[in-house]
Amino acid sequence: METVTGTEIDIAAHWLREGECVGIPTETVYGLAANALDVHAVSKVFKVKQRPDFDPLIVHVASPEQAALYADFYPLATQLSERFWPGPLTLVLPRKDVVPYQVTSGLDTVAIRIPDHSLTLELLASLDFPLAAPSANPFGYISPTTARHVNDQLGGKVPFILDGGECRVGLESTIIGFENGQAVIYRLGFITPDMVREVTGNVQIRTHSSSDPKAPGMLTAHYAPHTPMFAYTPGQPIPEGSGFIGFSEYTEVFPAADQVLLSPGADEYEAARNLYAMLREMDNRAYRALYIEVPEGDGLILALADRIRRAVAHGQ
Ligand code: TXA
Ligand code: MG
Repeated sequence: METVTGTEIDIAAHWLREGECVGIPTETVYGLAANALDVHAVSKVFKVKQRPDFDPLIVHVASPEQAALYADFYPLATQLSERFWPGPLTLVLPRKDVVPYQVTSGLDTVAIRIPDHSLTLELLASLDFPLAAPSANPFGYISPTTARHVNDQLGGKVPFILDGGECRVGLESTIIGFENGQAVIYRLGFITPDMVREVTGNVQIRTHSSSDPKAPGMLTAHYAPHTPMFAYTPGQPIPEGSGFIGFSEYTEVFPAADQVLLSPGADEYEAARNLYAMLREMDNRAYRALYIEVPEGDGLILALADRIRRAVAHGQ
């Protein structure tokens, strides 16, 4: 099929009402959206993305009132949603019966969020159903942060990509679930553990389940380029024809032309915004191997380092 890219919300809404998948912008990464209440449309998402059916989708809604139609909120979840929605936070909550098991991969919980992007909020408000949307990349590959990225990989497989420009955050949403009345972070993101703690008092972090099929975004290897990629340790031998992705400083080990920096000014927000685009760019340059610096630190660096480690694990 022909894929059209544009900014028209009514065209996106038209295809979604027809039961098709559409690329949509969010503040984190682009999503591959379909009517979450239509099992046939949802099955297309899995097919287009080549996603295993045990990996559940996030449901996107326009308002807290809509969210309450699809999930049961704990008081702690309501507090978090009041503080961070619309925004890069996904809550895993008991699902209401209207949410098909195809969306939740058979789980009795549903992941739900209100994205913070004006075009997609307008789109959601114009629909009478919520949107199930994983990141708009083939399963396991790098998430897209521009409409071009979506078209590069899913062009020909979706009728329309809603172009909302470059994603402001650049990393997928923070995912939080609730166990024994306590908040648990399942995936690190822009909303940091400290920001969550300000609302909940405390929070556990459990992002390293190596083989739990409930949340493959937590699998060790994910978000990876095709080129084998390794964490760069100064002094290690580097094969000729490799590329380097630095955090803020170039290294003398590599020719200048074979290096990119995530943030020359050492700004973690800029680095997060650039990470996936730079991984894609370096992946397209046909190097034999990629070497990437893993930043250390707190706050957003935690999420950044987490994604880099998962991308590296894939190449090893
Ligand atoms: O920022 C984001 O969250 C982006 C944009 C498009 O909203 N979406 C995204 O979706 O990253 P996806 O499918 O690539 O990642 C969703 C993650 C997966 O790791 C999935 O396993 C987990 O959420 N998930 C979904 N439902 C869940 C549930 N009921 N329990 C635990 N994990 C769940
Ligand atoms: Mg994804």
